[in-house]
Amino acid sequence: MTEPNPPDTMLDRLRERLTPEEFPTDDRGRIRMVVDSLVLHLHPSKVPVTTIKWSYTWGLGGLSAVLMTILALTGIILLNNYTPSVPQAYLDILEIRSNVWFGELIRNLHHWSANLLIIVAVLHLIRVFLTGAYRPPRELNWLLGVAMLVLILGANFTGYLLPWDQLAFWAITVGTSIITYVPLVGESIGRLVLGGPEVGANTLLNFYSLHIALIPLGIFGLMSYHFWRVRKDGGLTLPKPVDPAPDPLTWQKPERVTTIPHLVRRELIYTLGWFAALLLFAMVVPAPLEGIANPDISPNPAKAPWYFMGLQELLLHFHPLVGAIIMPGLAITGLFLLPFFDVTSASVGIYFRSRRGRSLSLLALGLATLLTPAWVLLDEFVLDWVGWLPGWDSLISNGLIPLALIALGLFLLDGWAVKTFGADTEERVLFLAVFLFTAFVILTMIGIFFRGPGMALYLPWNMPAAVH
Ligand code: HEM
Repeated sequence: MTEPNPPDTMLDRLRERLTPEEFPTDDRGRIRMVVDSLVLHLHPSKVPVTTIKWSYTWGLGGLSAVLMTILALTGIILLNNYTPSVPQAYLDILEIRSNVWFGELIRNLHHWSANLLIIVAVLHLIRVFLTGAYRPPRELNWLLGVAMLVLILGANFTGYLLPWDQLAFWAITVGTSIITYVPLVGESIGRLVLGGPEVGANTLLNFYSLHIALIPLGIFGLMSYHFWRVRKDGGLTLPKPVDPAPDPLTWQKPERVTTIPHLVRRELIYTLGWFAALLLFAMVVPAPLEGIANPDISPNPAKAPWYFMGLQELLLHFHPLVGAIIMPGLAITGLFLLPFFDVTSASVGIYFRSRRGRSLSLLALGLATLLTPAWVLLDEFVLDWVGWLPGWDSLISNGLIPLALIALGLFLLDGWAVKTFGADTEERVLFLAVFLFTAFVILTMIGIFFRGPGMALYLPWNMPAAVH
């Protein structure tokens, strides 16, 4: 007698587990069962009602995943019609816009989804930060998130060059010049990234391979691990009830609903809604494309891509080593180390930690909104460190001294929050982080909207046209 064959398909395995009454007999029922089982690979079968509330996660992690999927699908179509060589790259983009079936729409969709992804991933990071969800046991998932954000910026930056138009060429020239400020190895790293002394055909090829293979592989790899960690860490953090003294037993064991249909239905509606909005936007607003890149004619002002304008603004005020390397380096290190310093679990799941935390955050937002432009104006028109300290190395006079003054300012602000408001450690972290993040956003806005020819300050409505 022969042994029965081992089950080899998902259906066979399900047939084995279910009773004959439970196993669907028609095709529709079977397809539904396979789809359900795929969904349950991603989600647990039941989820707390509180964590699927729209106002807790805002669906931002899920939306990042949706955008990554749109980018991969539209990217594959673009890839089939693109050659990474000079000047063919530019001609191919023209061809995609005019002769490829829905080519213009697909390019627009790819462009706007990529830009939106930066905003959505940063908003997701902010929501995770504001609910304290980076604290143990989720510290590894926070680190994975920071690494993904760096890769998302890398994907956007490398993709920016591919159309090989004036905008791309000069934005990447400005952006990559920042690398050369890294002490000792900056020049060599710059050459490696550019494939030569300046942006050229080799840079296009390097950026192309990073953009279509290495970076997406990295992001999708980390994304799978990120999702798996959300489940391993016991699902999402639980939002604490509004009740000032919730019963810990019922709070830790909240009411649960089945993932299918409750969570899946929300995800589907949300995905379709965003997809429709993006599609509409891409139909109406074309992705930018200027004339073919001309290395001999630089536009004035020559600006980095918008997400690096905060960095470019810092460079206008500090010695490059401080503005381009030390300050961003401290920020990234702070993000990586955050879950290891701020470890209390008391307020996990509560937006802004506490009522006082909420007030302090508002205060930090207001202060940074006022102080950052004030400091930019002061530095532009009054402060002259190099003139005041002649003979000093500009790294000290225009770098380390202002940096030390800013650190002192933050120290005083922190002391004020403790003395005047009685802030505890987690509220102090929140206060300073909101202040610094807002300051960076304001710097980015100043760089994008208030800098004109010669990178001088202008009011947006008085902005002269760019000089070529
Ligand atoms: C491609 C980028 C990303 C994708 C696709 C993604 C996806 C997700 C999803 C679907 C969730 C669960 C639902 C939600 O919270 O919205 C989640 C949770 C989480 N994400 Fe992300 N994420 C990304 C980037 C980031 C970044 C930049 C950070 C922070 C640095 C981060 C840190 C976390 C943490 C700590 C959790 C657990 C939150 C909790 O338990 O409440 N993720 N992510």
